[in-house]
Amino acid sequence: MTGRPIALPVLNDEVQRPEYANGPRSLDAVKLLRVSVTDRCNLRCIYCMPEGGMDFHDKDELLQAPDFEAIAAAAVEIGITHIKITGGEPTVRRDLLDILRRLADLGPDDLSLTTNGLQLHRLAEPLREAGVDRLTLSVDTLQPQRYEQITGGGRIEQFHRGVEAAEDAGFEKLKFNVVVMKRINDDEVADLAALTIDKPWTIRFIEYMPLGDSRLTAPGVDPDDVWVDNAIVKDRIAERHGEPEPVDRGSEVGVGPANVYRLPGAKGRIGFISAMSKPFCETCNRLRLTSTGELRSCLFDGGEVDVMPALRPSPRRDEIVDLFGRCVVLKPETHSNRGNRAMSQIGG
Ligand code: GTP
Ligand code: 5AD
Ligand code: SF4
Repeated sequence: MTGRPIALPVLNDEVQRPEYANGPRSLDAVKLLRVSVTDRCNLRCIYCMPEGGMDFHDKDELLQAPDFEAIAAAAVEIGITHIKITGGEPTVRRDLLDILRRLADLGPDDLSLTTNGLQLHRLAEPLREAGVDRLTLSVDTLQPQRYEQITGGGRIEQFHRGVEAAEDAGFEKLKFNVVVMKRINDDEVADLAALTIDKPWTIRFIEYMPLGDSRLTAPGVDPDDVWVDNAIVKDRIAERHGEPEPVDRGSEVGVGPANVYRLPGAKGRIGFISAMSKPFCETCNRLRLTSTGELRSCLFDGGEVDVMPALRPSPRRDEIVDLFGRCVVLKPETHSNRGNRAMSQIGG
């Protein structure tokens, strides 16, 4: 086997998978930790939770602010530069600002948060003050009734208020996530892309990923036929706006998996996250932490390690660092068709 060993050679005797020089199974390749701070959400998006609802974890099962701090400190120590806070919906957590301040104090290059935006009218400013560098907002439609239907009761006006508050607080280069679903919102992709003409925003079109027991149900929609290939989404956008020009990914903040383009004459950008049609596992640069303390190697089903034993009675940095090494080698060659946990439990 060629290439450099993983960063923690002490763990090599447990490695069953091939080593990739600087590839996704090396800690050298891990640049981002996605931290889910809760599995709860104030919405019920149709693609996110299983039909019939979720059993949420009790509060006392969740990691506490000092736990997140200890794990993120270990992450920074091994060279992770980017931290992304997710949920569920991270803003439902009361001590979110405390968690963020602790993580910001560790000095990552980039601390970002993905949110549905509905609490930003009150939280945008405090998030900025807590040290969040940038925000990504989920929005799958601009139509009020559709928004309500897709999110299970959300109000688009509240989302718009959140966007304004975010801009006022200085989050200018916002990113937006659109999960594209056949006969639900696929007719709107060109309208959503149009938002990038006058704003310095990046709107990303995401292929629907079937995770856990989720089964997407909506009136008049066949749940087994909702997936749309991003190649079709891109063509539809080009039909209306002209051929998008590729943009160097390095010029886009963040280290996410989107392929980025610009519409002719636009201020902002559009991006495509094509996890199903073009899996990007080979270049995967991330690990995930669930709100109950599992480090997860893959969004789909790569395997997890439990960090809790290294946190109680008090955090032990060396052990946590070891666990990162144990987790990264569990990454699969490529992800399966269906993940083993709901998106809301992992945080995307
Ligand atoms: P930024 O560009 O820094 O905002 O990061 P990001 O694109 O990773 O963040 P975001 O939380 O906005 O995620 C966008 C979408 O990409 C979500 O649907 C995620 O589930 C998906 N995604 C992010 N990382 C991965 C990954 O490693 N594998 C797969 N299959 N999907 C991912
Ligand atoms: N498939 C693809 N993307 C999803 N998201 C949530 N559930 C899914 C799914 N099943 C996206 C949301 C959110 C991000 C963290 O994950 O758009 O912005
Ligand atoms: Fe990496 Fe898993 Fe995402 Fe594939 S699905 S890119 S292995 S995290």
